[in-house]
Amino acid sequence: MSDSVATSRARMPEGTNTVLDRRTVETDNSNLLPLLRPGLRVLDAGCGTGAITAGIAERVAPGGNVTGIDTGEFLIAQAQQQFAGAPGLQFEVADIHTFATAEKFDLITSARVLQWLPDPLQTLRCMRALLRPGGIVSILDYNHEKISWAPAPPASMRRFYDAFLQWRKDAGFDNGIADRLVHLFREAGFTQISTQSCHEISLAGSPEFNATAGIWTKVAASRGVQLVNDGYVTEAERLAAMEDYGQWVAGTGKSMQLYLLAVSGRNPE
Ligand SMILES: C[S@@+](CC[C@H](N)C(=O)[O-])C[C@H]1O[C@@H](n2cnc3c(N)ncnc32)[C@H](O)[C@@H]1O
Repeated sequence: MSDSVATSRARMPEGTNTVLDRRTVETDNSNLLPLLRPGLRVLDAGCGTGAITAGIAERVAPGGNVTGIDTGEFLIAQAQQQFAGAPGLQFEVADIHTFATAEKFDLITSARVLQWLPDPLQTLRCMRALLRPGGIVSILDYNHEKISWAPAPPASMRRFYDAFLQWRKDAGFDNGIADRLVHLFREAGFTQISTQSCHEISLAGSPEFNATAGIWTKVAASRGVQLVNDGYVTEAERLAAMEDYGQWVAGTGKSMQLYLLAVSGRNPE
């Protein structure tokens, strides 16, 4: 499919900002914590509403500087409003493939973004060009094929989820990107590549279960509209998936695990 299909399918629909707003660097990008220290110059590529980015800025203060970029204008507008005046923190509408800056970065982070890009090797090369020699790129991303639910979710949600993965694959996105990152880092010329498991496990009974396991209800409510418009599910199937899965989360659901890896690599000196 064409690049424009990928671009339109990658666009975050209105409403998804509530999912991004809940995230923090401590709980949702904790792989960064050992890398952050005062004075660093950091780029957060695909920062969404800036919830994680703001936490990064706190951890590189004093003296640090963090830029969050995203192609979503409404996301950046929200970030700029919410974090106006925060020291050493700015947001910009920009595409990681064309973003340019005079001063290079010590650290580039990109969480849950490469899964939405059709040529992640090119993206990593663009990031490397923005890094100082010796600088680090840290990517956090999914293997959507390795999600696990216990017990199995309702058939209507499984059908919606499979359609979601097919819809992504047809746009050129890699559903298993997490497990291919090390290879891509090598291809892009990074050294000292390391991998960390960051799987997100949600257990029934925890206060977060409704929100975390319920992410697929939100995906069906937001991205699901795109799937219906693109002919991957019917509106009736989308609504059934939301209804049945909502009951699973509220009743029989015991656990859900999202498979995530964090991979980092260094730009050679
Ligand atoms: C799933 S969200 C992740 C947001 C945030 N990093 C987090 O972990 O919560 C992916 C973000 O990547 C952004 N994005 C997609 N393609 C992009 C590109 N080419 N350049 C910059 N941002 C992009 C989307 O607009 C979206 O906000």
